Amino acid sequence: MKLFSCEVVIGDAILAQQAPFFSTLASRFAIITDQKVASLYGQEMVYFLKGFSSKVELFDFPPGEIYKTRQTKEDLENQLFERGFGRDTCIIGLGGGVVTDIAGFLASTFCRGVSYVAIPTSLLGMVDASIGGKTGVNVPHGKNLVGTIYQPKKVLIDPLYLKTLPPHEVVNGCAEMIKHALIADDDYFLFLEKHVDEILDLKSSIIVKAISKSCRIKQSIVEEDEREHSKRRVLSFGHTVGHALEVLTNYSLSHGEAVAIGMMVESEISTQLGFLAEDSLSRLRNLLKSFRFSLKVPRRYSLEMLMQAMAFDKKSKGGMPRFVTLQSIGNAMEHIDNYCIPIPKEILIRSLGRIDLLIMQEVY
Ligand SMILES: NC(=O)c1ccc[n+]([C@@H]2O[C@H](COP(=O)([O-])OP(=O)(O)OC[C@H]3O[C@@H](n4cnc5c(N)ncnc54)[C@H](O)[C@@H]3O)[C@@H](O)[C@H]2O)c1
Repeated sequence: MKLFSCEVVIGDAILAQQAPFFSTLASRFAIITDQKVASLYGQEMVYFLKGFSSKVELFDFPPGEIYKTRQTKEDLENQLFERGFGRDTCIIGLGGGVVTDIAGFLASTFCRGVSYVAIPTSLLGMVDASIGGKTGVNVPHGKNLVGTIYQPKKVLIDPLYLKTLPPHEVVNGCAEMIKHALIADDDYFLFLEKHVDEILDLKSSIIVKAISKSCRIKQSIVEEDEREHSKRRVLSFGHTVGHALEVLTNYSLSHGEAVAIGMMVESEISTQLGFLAEDSLSRLRNLLKSFRFSLKVPRRYSLEMLMQAMAFDKKSKGGMPRFVTLQSIGNAMEHIDNYCIPIPKEILIRSLGRIDLLIMQEVY
């Protein structure tokens, strides 16, 4: 698969076939990862890259969304300079979405931009975070508010990394797969409905199909609108509410769980507006439940708290959130000149109320 100048390669043990690519890439390799992935795959990556350069080093930081910060990026940059890395460096982002978001951001600004290769190791990283070039960190005001759009030279997706991924992280990745199906492909939604257990069990042929399908959907949308002036906004379906919940819960809610709840709320909005049929809403709820999403928030939030958190959403205009809407499963709506619209407050209140987000612990 080719995206701009960035190729996405998917397959078991694909790294070995990439020798010609790595041999001409750079004279130094800096592998950025988190401590958990470092302990599993760090040394084998160092060993592999040593075949192409005598200067290969591993830099890690603690795992978790709370470390996706400017501070972590700065610490890594200082370490790179101290270890003698400069303009001729290739940054390898080896890990989940937190790692590839930080590593890509770092690569885009280090010495004004050095080459970058993404090697995602979580399902969420493979189906979404490593594709499309968005990089960034969180700040106290919200998620991903500081960052760049910077395409890697290649994205190398080896599903064998998933063998060590904890089951709840597999579930996490499924939220973005469901999102891709919801916004762009009803056949893919059917495929997910049909293969829930095989996906959760990481059955090779099925998981490769799902990863490929998700990558294609995301790539084709990004190719149309890389800088997110219009169409790319559909990829943030479920994230307006989802990101707000992540911030409000101080990231105790995982990204996948927050997006799953967000997709329910934002689908409910589409139904309240008369766009999305009630039975599509039920199909979504059933699919999320069968993928083991709890659809629970740890505590209740007032509309004001949610509105405040959503005001920083990238689609907001004048501090008011705007939402992507669905016409049907597989079909995100295009509105006049846009792919998101403001929602009357009463519809928002009714939608949040209908899913009990404002008053109860269990959403569905
Ligand atoms: N840039 C984008 O377009 C984009 C899109 C979607 C999500 N994201 C970002 O992605 C992040 C979430 O990604 P994530 O869910 O991968 O989180 P993550 O990077 O925190 O990984 C989740 C956990 O899995 C562990 N892990 C990763 N690979 C493993 C493996 N093979 N074996 C065992 N453990 C492994 C990690 O150490 C971590 O503890 C969020 O910050 C989100 O904003 C970015």
